[in-house]
This record gives sequence, C-alpha cells and structure tokens, in this order.
Amino acid sequence: MATAAQEESEHKSFTRMQDGQPEDWMVIAAEHQAHYQEDAPKRIIEHLKSLDELTLGFGCSQLQHSLMTATLARNAGASDEEIVAALCHDIGKTMSVPNHGAIAAEILKPYVSEDIAEAIRYHQDFQGAYYYNYLGRSTTMREDHKDKSWYEFACKLVDEWDAEAFDPDFEVDSLESFEPEITRVFSQPKMM
Ligand SMILES: [Fe+2]
Repeated sequence: MATAAQEESEHKSFTRMQDGQPEDWMVIAAEHQAHYQEDAPKRIIEHLKSLDELTLGFGCSQLQHSLMTATLARNAGASDEEIVAALCHDIGKTMSVPNHGAIAAEILKPYVSEDIAEAIRYHQDFQGAYYYNYLGRSTTMREDHKDKSWYEFACKLVDEWDAEAFDPDFEVDSLESFEPEITRVFSQPKMM
C-alpha cells in the first residue's frame, strides 16, 4: 500500500529495482538526503528516549545511565564525537543486548573516527572486567585488544564513564542539552 508521502509525490517510482530510471534515482537520492540524513540527529534523540523504558535489572534506567555516561565524558572535557559515543554506546539495547555494542558502532561509524566506533563495538568486553566472573566468562577479554589504537580510549570510556554511571540520583545533563553535540556529529557522514 502506498504511504501518504508516496501519494503526495508527483513522481511515480519503479515497482522493481530492475526497472529503475535515472530520474527515479535522482528523486530517491534527494529524498534520502532531505528526510534521512537531515533528520538523523532527531531520530537519534527519539531513539535515545526509548532507553527510558529499559532498566534491565540495574539501579537506573538505560537513559539515565546513558546520560550519566555522556555527562561524565562532557565534564572530563571529551570531544563532541566522544561525548556522542558515550551517549549512544547502549542505544542498541532496545534491539539486542548481546549485540548492542556492534549495533551502536554501526550507527556511529559513518560519523565518528574509526577508533571511537571500534571502542564502542567492543566496550562490553572491557566492562567484563567487572562482572564476567559472575557469568562464567573471562574477565580479561580487554587484553585481546591491547595492541589496538583505540585500547586506551576504550579503557577510559568504560572505566571512567560507563562503569561509573548507574546512579539514579546523579544530576545528569538533560538529553536536550546534548542536542548541539548530536547535531554536529550526525550532520554529515564521513562516508556514504
Ligand atoms: Fe553502558
């Protein structure tokens, strides 16, 4: 069924990709830029809000945890990309807990340095130092990444910001206060 946006559009696009014409792709590319890329910061903020519904047994919601992680990063003088990575590091938990690091890394990857994206991808292995022993897993998994260029950043992210950030009473900076950093980081992908 056609969506309202499709019905409004003058352009009739193909029904099979095999039949696509140059003008179809001009319209599709423009729509992606206008409605996808330009709305990216807004979409990230909306998705972060849904973390408020997840507690997962911790002492505070995943939104409070994410805001506290980002607030600690901001207070430590982190860069925009680092603050946004701290804010979004658990964004994937609304879809999958086991794979949440990889989901967040892939969301961030076009917009941040490769080192930051990789630190986010593997951040749970670094956190494992604090609890994997309770789950029958090795607590030294971060050692597998010792030679990586992002190792030091991952240690800082996890030890100084993420692992510290489960206090429901900590006065976090609001989600709205992070809008400027989110907008700057998600305004243009470094890669398409
Ligand atoms: Fe976290």
